Amino acid sequence: MEIVKTVIELQSYLKGFREKKNSIGLVPTMGALHRGHLTLVKQAKEHCSVVVASIFVNPTQFNNPNDLQRYPRDLKKDCDLLETEGCDVVFAPDVTEVYPEKDERIFDFGDLENVMEGKYRPGHFNGVAQVVSRLFELVRPDKAFFGLKDFQQLAIVREMVSQLNFSVDIIPCETVRESDGLAMSSRNMLLTNQQRKNAPVIAKTLFESCNFASGKTVKETIDYVVSQVNEVEGLEVEYFDIADGYSLKAIDKWNESEYIVGCIAVFAGEIRLIDNVIYKNTGHEC
Ligand code: PAJ
Repeated sequence: MEIVKTVIELQSYLKGFREKKNSIGLVPTMGALHRGHLTLVKQAKEHCSVVVASIFVNPTQFNNPNDLQRYPRDLKKDCDLLETEGCDVVFAPDVTEVYPEKDERIFDFGDLENVMEGKYRPGHFNGVAQVVSRLFELVRPDKAFFGLKDFQQLAIVREMVSQLNFSVDIIPCETVRESDGLAMSSRNMLLTNQQRKNAPVIAKTLFESCNFASGKTVKETIDYVVSQVNEVEGLEVEYFDIADGYSLKAIDKWNESEYIVGCIAVFAGEIRLIDNVIYKNTGHEC
């Protein structure tokens, strides 16, 4: 496995593959890798002849400087994990490689960015769109792999691809969970023992709410989830929205959409955890 830090090295590595028309897969990450990320690499290996994983803690998507500063970083460990998964090349650039000049672009994602994460982390998705579009320009992948754990991010990336006319297939990958249900996240390692014990309540409540929802209104289901999670000391729901899975517009009635998602953000102390559940997907209830 190659580890490259500059755009020149990356492009000279990929040139040969491109000339031979080998398909290139990209897995963008911010490092601190876990099994969720590695599953994306595994899927990329299945779909593509050469797999690039990027590791870059993108400063423009952090609206909280403390969050950026305490974001876990361990390049050596990450590269070891990627190598065991059969990744071909790791692109681990410095900030100046990705942004030789300050990125001043402002994207307009309409209502997609005014809800949920977009509402509570202003500027976050603009930063995500900046970095992902830069990575797409540099790597020019045929396919790029994103986790459904970050449901709204996936919707934003799809919209960005359509606005900027990138010819890349966006491949969604299922959320990978710990054995107790907690969605894997690089932030989980920042939890105290007690917070880690409490955190699985989030996923457990989301899954339970799928059964709870039958015969109940959307509003009752929202209230149920929020109260179950808030009941646990040390956990505090920031938002829980039930929305159309494409537009992310909140729904009032279950028959308003064929694809319905519930997205949650919860504070465990200062650590912010997100998760989601699909209530309905083209007629297949969860
Ligand atoms: P990061 O949080 O490192 O996540 C990288 C990719 O891994 C994202 O597509 C994310 O959805 C996916 N992922 C994270 N946890 C997962 C899990 N438990 N199961 C499945 N997939 C999971 O998301 C980002 O980085 C950044 O915003 C990025 C897209 C790299 C842009 O900077």
